[in-house]
Formats: sequence, C-alpha cells, structure tokens
Amino acid sequence: MTEQNPSDQGISPQDQRDQRGQQGRHDQQDQHALAALEQRFARTIAADHRIEPRDWMPDAYRRTLIRQIAQHAHSEIIGMQPEGNWISRAPSLRRKAILLAKVQDEAGHGLYLYAATETLGADRADLTRKLIEGRQRYSSIFNYPTLTFADVGVIGWLVDGAAICNQVPLCRTSYGPYARAMIRICKEESFHQRQGYELLLTMMSGTEQQRRMVQEATDRWWWPALMMFGPPDADSPNTAQSMAWRIKRDTNDELRQKFVDMTVPQAEKLGVTLPDPELRWNPERGHYDFGTPDWAEFKQVLAGNGPCNAQRLAHRRRAHEDGAWVREAASAYAAKQAARAAARAQTPAAAREQRERAGVA
Ligand SMILES: [Fe+2]
Ligand SMILES: [Fe+2]
Repeated sequence: MTEQNPSDQGISPQDQRDQRGQQGRHDQQDQHALAALEQRFARTIAADHRIEPRDWMPDAYRRTLIRQIAQHAHSEIIGMQPEGNWISRAPSLRRKAILLAKVQDEAGHGLYLYAATETLGADRADLTRKLIEGRQRYSSIFNYPTLTFADVGVIGWLVDGAAICNQVPLCRTSYGPYARAMIRICKEESFHQRQGYELLLTMMSGTEQQRRMVQEATDRWWWPALMMFGPPDADSPNTAQSMAWRIKRDTNDELRQKFVDMTVPQAEKLGVTLPDPELRWNPERGHYDFGTPDWAEFKQVLAGNGPCNAQRLAHRRRAHEDGAWVREAASAYAAKQAARAAARAQTPAAAREQRERAGVA
C-alpha cells in the first residue's frame, strides 16, 4: 500500500498546518527526552557509576562495546589453540593438568564475554560467524606458533602478564556486565601468569638445553607481547573517545610502559635477557626506556598475514562445523523441554494450581 498525501484526502490547508505544528511539537518533545537521557548517561559516567543493560546509552557507545568485547571474546577462544597444541605432549601429568585447566579457563573467559555482548543486544552466533569469516579481529599475539614447551611458560609469563595489565583497568570499565566479567577473568589470568613463571623457573634450574629453550622462546615472544597493547597512542584514533566514555582507563602506551616496568625485574630474577638493546632504567622518568616494536610486522599480522593466521581461522572454522550437531541437539532438547512445560501447564490440575496461585480460585 502506498502512503497518501494528506491533501489527497481532502484535508484543508489549515488542518495540514495544524498537523505540521503538532509534528513539530512532538519532535521538540523527543529532542528534550533525548537530551535528558544523554545528560543522565554523562552524569553516570562522570560519577564513575556503571551503565547497566537496561539503561539508555548512545548507539556509538553500544557499538564500540560490542566490537571491543567481541574482539576480546574471540581472542580468548582463538587463544586456546597455541597452547592446546601442547596438551597431548606435556612432559608430566602435573604439567598436563595445569595446562588443561588453563586452556579450559580461556574457554570460560570467551563464554563470559560473549554473554556480556548479548546484554548489549548482540547475537553470539552472528559474532562467531563474523570471526570465522575474518570480519572481526582477535588479538594479533595468537597468530604466532608455539615451537617448544618453553613457549607454554613464556605465554603464561608474558602473554597472560600483558593481558593482566590490559584487563585489570577493565574491572573499572563503565559498562557493568563487562566490568564484572573482568573481575573473575583477572583472578584466573593471575593463575595463568604464575603457572607460566613457575614453569620457567623450573626450566631455568634444569639443564643447559632447557635454559636455552627458555631464552629462545623469550626472544620470540617479547616483541609480539609488547604489540598486544595496540598501536602507539598517536596512531590510535579511538582511544580518546573510549577514555571519555571510561571504557578504557589507560592509553596503549601507558599500559605498555607498565608492562615493561613490571616484567624487567621478573626477567632478571629468571635469568633471561629481554631481546632489546635499548632497554635500560631511566632514573629521571622513573621508568624503563625501551625500543620500538616492529609496527610494520604488527600491521601485517592484523591484515591476516602473520605466521599462523590462516591456520588459526581454519581450525576455528572446522571446530565450529564439527560442533554443528551439538548445537542442533541442544536446540532440539530445549524445544522439547519447552513443549513439555507448555503441555503440563495446560492440564486441568496445572490450570487449577495456576489459578490458586494467582488467588482467583
Ligand atoms: Fe583469558
Ligand atoms: Fe589467560
């Protein structure tokens, strides 16, 4: 059906003017209501209170959060692969149990985070589709290979260590469900960091060959770990808005510095050398100075050309396809349960019970 012009319906010019006036008043009322909502949102952010799923929020805030939390969730899930590679080859039962627990934790982190995106109206199946089609990103770090068992230790130490630096401030992020998920995730990340460091301490007190393995793994992971904080602040156009919304609490460079300051004494205690000739304590700044990561490599990895990008995505895609029967079975079971519940509600006894509960018997 096509819409009719009011003049076609024989409405007088005066009536048309009245209608336009009314419309204008409605627009004005809408604008006032919107301004009030925006002010309330700004006040909540300024007071450092949390925005909750039922609260009004600007569309751009919602979109930014969905993108960031989805990217975070994808990273947890893809991040299971590099270490999962070593579960079947862990050198002892103890190491295997630790590694299994850690990789399972990462799956849990992914699930909390997908659940957080759902409170914003996102659809998990849609996000998974975007990941496996390469339309949404995950952390660049998981596109590097794990070549020896020392990599398991170095990932725990450096990668989970960097993740902690990134994630602790997110426990105070402005969106409630994200902040609460991060509190639990950070507790588990701290176990991940410790198990990695403990493994490395053990290897460093082992044979010469084990010490060499630790050093070699450190050499390979150090720079990619520094890249985990994202590009330098000057090349990070979204940072200012995310900081204003208090989604982000520190800039990429601030977090990177914090990580370096935290890690250098740990490397010294461990007895490994960090592969950066420019790394030295700067007494004036009260921080370590350090060299510049290879940002061209970072861009290449983000563009899909890292050493393991294709392998990681292909593996994730295969796991998703292989899991189709589980999703179908779970949906069929849920539908059956719902149908049974509905049928039970229709029996005379259930109907009577319902009436009694409602006080209308
Ligand atoms: Fe995690
Ligand atoms: Fe972790």
